[in-house]
Amino acid sequence: MSEKMTSRLAGFYKLPIPERVEQIGRMLRLSPEELSFMQGVQALPPEIANQMIENAVGTFSLPLGLGLNLQVNGRDYLVPMAVEEPSVIAAVSFAAKIVREAGGFTAEADDSMMIGQVQVTHYGDPTEASQKIAAAKDQILALANSFHPQLVNRGGGAKDIEVRVLPAPEGPRGEPLVIVHVLVDTQEAMGANLINTMAEGIAPFIEQVTGGKVYLRILSNLADRRLARAWCRIPVPLLADFNLSGQEIAEGIAQASRFARADPYRAATHNKGVMNGVDAVAIATGQDWRAIEAGAHAFACREGQYRPLSNWYLEDGFLIGHLELPLALGLVGGPIKIHPGVQLSLKILRVSSVRELAMIIAAIGLAQNFAALRALGSVGIQQGHMALHARCVAVTAGARGASVEKIANLMVKAGHVKVDKAREFLAALAEEEDAATGTG
Ligand code: MEV
Repeated sequence: MSEKMTSRLAGFYKLPIPERVEQIGRMLRLSPEELSFMQGVQALPPEIANQMIENAVGTFSLPLGLGLNLQVNGRDYLVPMAVEEPSVIAAVSFAAKIVREAGGFTAEADDSMMIGQVQVTHYGDPTEASQKIAAAKDQILALANSFHPQLVNRGGGAKDIEVRVLPAPEGPRGEPLVIVHVLVDTQEAMGANLINTMAEGIAPFIEQVTGGKVYLRILSNLADRRLARAWCRIPVPLLADFNLSGQEIAEGIAQASRFARADPYRAATHNKGVMNGVDAVAIATGQDWRAIEAGAHAFACREGQYRPLSNWYLEDGFLIGHLELPLALGLVGGPIKIHPGVQLSLKILRVSSVRELAMIIAAIGLAQNFAALRALGSVGIQQGHMALHARCVAVTAGARGASVEKIANLMVKAGHVKVDKAREFLAALAEEEDAATGTG
């Protein structure tokens, strides 16, 4: 029997994996194959890996977890996250729970407008070359669109061109750069392939129009026409924790935000926290996360200094958080249709468009950032982090099953989370067990 879809699954973390999988399966009506794939029983088949990349020798897996409690624009989402770092999923779920109590996240995303770049050289006079290109705009767009008629039929395609003249990097003696931007609405595709085809396809015509020579023809990963935004507005009293008032916690978060705005050294770490969430969802849903990373960091530098992607401040008794970043995502092409794990993630997420996926990812990025700043601006992150880190250390030292938790707890209590300490505790535990069973 199916259950009501909710992302609020109290006690989920306490269940053994098969029970978690069963609960999700019931709620989302997943097939037995999908359930066994989720548990890693069926890994990515090598034949599929071989179709995806060259020189494939196998597959490489990561833990897949679910971010809980997320509500975006009034809708609940269970968020698949592939990530190796402890605390990320616990933190994002906790943050989403607080924001949920405050009414959830609000988010929006732009249309899928991407930029293809064509570099023109040896053109003579830059102003004249620019004017010639601008005058041929309709022909260039028609030519670009001739390479992807289906995209045009669906309402997408090349929509505009812009010509940019940039100073020569060598100084005034060098030839200024003439760069043509083709703006392409890639609809449900991330768009790299189709833009590159268009950029390569229009290059000979641009050479003909300008009398110049084209070198690079490639998309830009600074997808600043394809931004996603998420907000939240949390009543300050809701933030009270760690024996601190809501006001104290909120001030810590606002101070963290000021620090990141002023200092690129802090902004880099602040944004790393945002990307912890963004990348984990991007990986689970088969996105090109290198493109997302490149776009996010280039966007963070748009004012000439590397800045935080999010901002937090206090206003009229509320803590307000806002995040904006480029998200070039796709629901067609790439591994989307051939990787069964990606299909499963998308089914769990129940998204029907790239814009919806972008809104979820933006909300997750903001939630992740909120969780980090909440701890950093108050008690610090090590307290929460250590408990999870200790479990990894215990496993590294050889602990398995119930002893993982036992050894982790002993290390945290001793304030010494190291593999050698875990080995010591493991040996002591084995001795105790031997004595209890009368063996050894
Ligand atoms: C760790 O993966 C992420 C944080 O460093 C983010 C931050 O400092 O804001 C905790």
